[in-house]
Amino acid sequence: MQKRFLITPGPTPVPPEVLSALSEPVIHHRAPRFTEILTQVVAGMKYVYQTENDIMVYAASGTGAMEAAVVNVVNPGDHVLVASVGNFGERWKKLNATWGAEVTALDYAWGTKAEPADIAKALAADPAIKAVFVQHSETSTGVVNDVKAIGEIVAGTPAILVVDAISGLGASDLKTDEWKVDVCVAGSQKALMVPPGLAYAAVSEKAWAVIAECRTPRFYFDFVAMRKKMTGDSAQTPYTPAVSLMVAQNVAIDLIREEGLQNVFERHRVLGKAAREGVKALGLELFAVEDPEANSVTAVKVPEGVDGGKIGKIARDKYGVWLAGGQGAVKGKIFRFGHCGYFGHSDIVVGLSTVEMVLAELGYDVRFGASVGAAEQVFMTSTVLL
Ligand SMILES: Cc1ncc(COP(=O)(O)O)c(C=O)c1O
Repeated sequence: MQKRFLITPGPTPVPPEVLSALSEPVIHHRAPRFTEILTQVVAGMKYVYQTENDIMVYAASGTGAMEAAVVNVVNPGDHVLVASVGNFGERWKKLNATWGAEVTALDYAWGTKAEPADIAKALAADPAIKAVFVQHSETSTGVVNDVKAIGEIVAGTPAILVVDAISGLGASDLKTDEWKVDVCVAGSQKALMVPPGLAYAAVSEKAWAVIAECRTPRFYFDFVAMRKKMTGDSAQTPYTPAVSLMVAQNVAIDLIREEGLQNVFERHRVLGKAAREGVKALGLELFAVEDPEANSVTAVKVPEGVDGGKIGKIARDKYGVWLAGGQGAVKGKIFRFGHCGYFGHSDIVVGLSTVEMVLAELGYDVRFGASVGAAEQVFMTSTVLL
């Protein structure tokens, strides 16, 4: 027997109440009870998204919602702008290129944020740009973009703003309506505390006008069909939904409501800070610009002389702890410590102590306990339950 821990930015640990809901007998998706659950999940997602916009829900991974966002707004040949700060920004580019868009890319060094002023300049230079695509939390680097500032800029143009909040929603503040986000996608397996398999999109009125003009062929991911079926007293999804995951999501949303969204964000802030202070106390360097709102994941540079490829393997095989490695261009050069969703101080302690033991085994000079001690000092300043 080995106890296992997911210290990754998705999938993330699932609370016992949610696991228990997953074991309930499956209900039929055309039954009134399912309509109740769907209605509650939609209301709950509006709370988490801080929106009055329409909520779409699909049986899909997060990338499904990203693709849905593209096929509902982009016609072949349309001009779009992608501000890419990492691996998932690259995914926005690939998806848009796949569906025939003319992509203008603003590429930023991984570990840095998108500059809202650059987006303003690009929109001014090409008034034909129809949509701007960015990440909220870029999971490959730990960076959280300034969606509020970007939203302000895009709202002043005819373009719509499409945000990937797959790892950020429910971890770092994101006021969908106030920040004028037109399509905002999310996934169940991060801060929403449910296993992988549900993908969401929140869609604004400004986006619906663009969707009405979009001719790109689509069927399963057609937002119009989804909205139609989800409206009214007998709301359903057009196709068979992931019933059990929806039941589980309903329970997970109750947990978020009980804690209170602002407290959820604050817990994440404290845990993110504890992770950052912990690794810094070991003399390690953070990969991304330091940011008190970087609440989902902490990316850490692999120190000189350490074989980065071995960190995750030893952590997993010897200690039962899953850490995430680097993706794409930074594979082997960074490792990532997740803290979004059902995370408390004990998870940070387990993660940091594992990092200490693994790095020591790989020849790095570790002062044992240093990272955990630094994290403890952060925990003690917390004003919310951890
Ligand atoms: C920011 C971000 N975007 C997109 C994705 C892709 O989601 P999925 O793997 O659920 O398709 C992820 C998943 O890690 C993510 O963190």
